[in-house]
Amino acid sequence: MPRHIAIIMDGNGRWAKRRLMPRVAGHRKGVEALRGVIRACAERGVSHLTVFAFSSENWRRPQEEVTLLMELFMRALENEVAKLHENGIRFRVIGDLSGFSGRIQALIRDAEALTRNNTRLTFTVAANYGGRWDVVQAVKKLMLSGVPAGAVNETTLAEQLSMADAPEPDLFIRTGGEQRISNFLMWQLAYTELYFTDALWPDFDAAALDAAIASYRTRERRFGRTSEQLRSTS
Ligand code: IPE
Ligand code: IPE
Ligand code: MG
Repeated sequence: MPRHIAIIMDGNGRWAKRRLMPRVAGHRKGVEALRGVIRACAERGVSHLTVFAFSSENWRRPQEEVTLLMELFMRALENEVAKLHENGIRFRVIGDLSGFSGRIQALIRDAEALTRNNTRLTFTVAANYGGRWDVVQAVKKLMLSGVPAGAVNETTLAEQLSMADAPEPDLFIRTGGEQRISNFLMWQLAYTELYFTDALWPDFDAAALDAAIASYRTRERRFGRTSEQLRSTS
């Protein structure tokens, strides 16, 4: 079982368009799909689930869609956090929170504080997140702490990244047919197994998750070694 699953939840707009519905209807359906995937991950013993909800580039969308997405995010924070907490789920948000309204920032802070000691599943939402932003903010933190250049290495840099306390993702899933990273967790995905599916995010259910996990299980994670080396150590 993968310990950490990272998902780009893509295809909400196309799901709605196919039904002649406004794009926001697809985003609403996407929240429902996410609820199911969180539950399924908790049931399967996955310890970390990280989802891309809003990229630093998504501000480029029409103002109306951005506004509706922010409202949806706020509603979800208001309505879902208590349930997450009841289920022993720790909730976190990574990204540049200064881009959000004061109300959303407060809801995020409260939700993180409420759920901080939960251990069943750590559920992280990447919002106004970009993988490049994450590396840059990590470098800034290192420089501000006065670390000499000689002490900068992969470990000390990784310690400053937003996901520093989580294991790197084992399995990356992108729905919606596109095969790209779109500036998600760039550093952390270096050795992650990638899985792409044409399923649109609102249609992605527990069975679809199991198909992704089944694919993951067929992979041989060599981390630079040879197959023979892996077999002789196991
Ligand atoms: C993903 O679905 C959700 C967000 C990026 C917020 P999209 O809105 O990108 O859906 P498509 O790609 O247009 O179908
Ligand atoms: C970005 O999705 C990642 C999220 C799901 C938030 P997009 O659908 O905006 O990605 P691109 O820009 O088409 O690659
Ligand atoms: Mg998209």
